[in-house]
Amino acid sequence: MQYADRVTGLGVEGAFAVLAKAKKLEAQGKSIIHLQIGEPDFDTPANITEAAIKAIRDGETHYSPSAGMPIVKEVVAEYYRKERKMDVAAENVVIMPGAKPLIFTSLSATINPGDEVIVPNPGYPTYNDVVNYLGATPVYMHLKEANQFRFDVDELKGLVTPKTRMIVINSPQNPTGGVLTRSDLETIYELAEKHDLWVLTDEIYSRLVYDGQFESIGAIPGAMERTIIVDGMSKTYAMTGWRLGHGLMPKKMADYLFNVAVANFSGTCTFSQYAIIEALTGPQDAVDNMVEEFRKRRKVIVDGLNQLDGVSCLMPAGAFYAFANITGTGMGSKEFADIMLNQAGVAALAGTAFGKFGEGYVRFSYANSIENIKEALRRMAGVLAGVK
Ligand SMILES: Cc1ncc(COP(=O)(O)O)c(C=O)c1O
Repeated sequence: MQYADRVTGLGVEGAFAVLAKAKKLEAQGKSIIHLQIGEPDFDTPANITEAAIKAIRDGETHYSPSAGMPIVKEVVAEYYRKERKMDVAAENVVIMPGAKPLIFTSLSATINPGDEVIVPNPGYPTYNDVVNYLGATPVYMHLKEANQFRFDVDELKGLVTPKTRMIVINSPQNPTGGVLTRSDLETIYELAEKHDLWVLTDEIYSRLVYDGQFESIGAIPGAMERTIIVDGMSKTYAMTGWRLGHGLMPKKMADYLFNVAVANFSGTCTFSQYAIIEALTGPQDAVDNMVEEFRKRRKVIVDGLNQLDGVSCLMPAGAFYAFANITGTGMGSKEFADIMLNQAGVAALAGTAFGKFGEGYVRFSYANSIENIKEALRRMAGVLAGVK
C-alpha cells in the first residue's frame, strides 16, 4: 500500500525514542536514571485534580464547544489581562488537548506549501516536523552558546526572505533553557512587523524562569495582531497527561482554529477543562514550590556537569533542562548519549535530537530528584574516567 510522503518523512521526537530504549533496558533488569523526558516529576496539585473529579461527578462528561468552554476561555483571558497586562478577551482564546495541537493547528492555519518558517535550532523538534509536514521549509536560527542560546538578532534579519511567513520563538527554551530578553523580543517584533510576518511564541515554560521576570512578545503594544501565544497546563502544573493547552491569538485566527478543531477532534475533554479554572484561579503555592525545587536541582546538575571531564554547561535561565557542551570528551552527541545510556544507565538526549546545531551538546532534564541527579553524575564520571 502507498503512504503519503508527509507521514513517511515524519521523525519521532527524540525523548520518546530514548524512553522506549531505556524501558527496554529496564525490562532486562538494568537500572536507568531518567534525565531524558520533559515532564515534571511532581503530582498534579490535589485541588486541581479534585476540581476535575467533581466535574465528572457533576456530569460534565459531554462534548465541549470545539475551541473550549466559554467560562474556561474567560478565565484564560483574565489570566493574561492580570498577569501580562494584555488587552485580550475570551474570543482570542482557544483551548486544545495540549500545546502541541495548538502548534500544529496554528501552523496549518497560516502556512502554505513553499513558505518559509524561521525556527530555532537547536529547538523543540515539533516546529521543524510540522513545517516539513505542511510542505513548507524550515529556516534555522542557530542558537549559540556564546550568545546564551538566545536569538542573534542581526543573524535573524539575514534569514528573512520574500517567502518567510513566520518566526517561531520559544522562551524559556527547550532544549537550552535560554531566555529571550525584552530587547530581543522588541527587535524580533519590529522585524515581524516590517516584513508582515506571523510570530508563534511557545511559552509553555513561562512560569519556569529563575532570574527576573518572564517577558512575552505578546505584551508589546500592537503585537497581538500578528502573534500566536501557545501555553498550557503540562509543565507549570505537572499535568502532561491531562492534555490541556491554551492559545491566544487574533479573533479571526481563533475562529479558523474552531473549524480546524471541529474537523479534527471535536473539542477538548470537558471535565479536564474544569481543572484549568482551578489551576489558574486557585492557590499557586504548588507551582512556587516546584520552581524552588527546580532551582535547587539546576544548581546541583550544572555544578556537577561542569566537574565532569570534557563537559561544560551554562547555567540555564529557565525551563528544566541543562544543555551541556560535551565536545571536550572527544565524542559526538549521539555517541555520548548512547554510551551513557548503555554503560552508566543514564538516559539523556543527544543535542542532535533538536536539530543539526545541537551537535556537541547533550540535554539533561532535571525533572528528577537531587539524589538521582547526584547518582547520575557519579555514574557518568565513572564512565568518562574509563573511556579516557
Ligand atoms: C517547547 C515545548 N512546547 C510544547 C510542548 C508540548 O506541550 P504539551 O504537553 O502541552 O502538548 C513541549 C513538551 O515537551 C515543549 O517542550
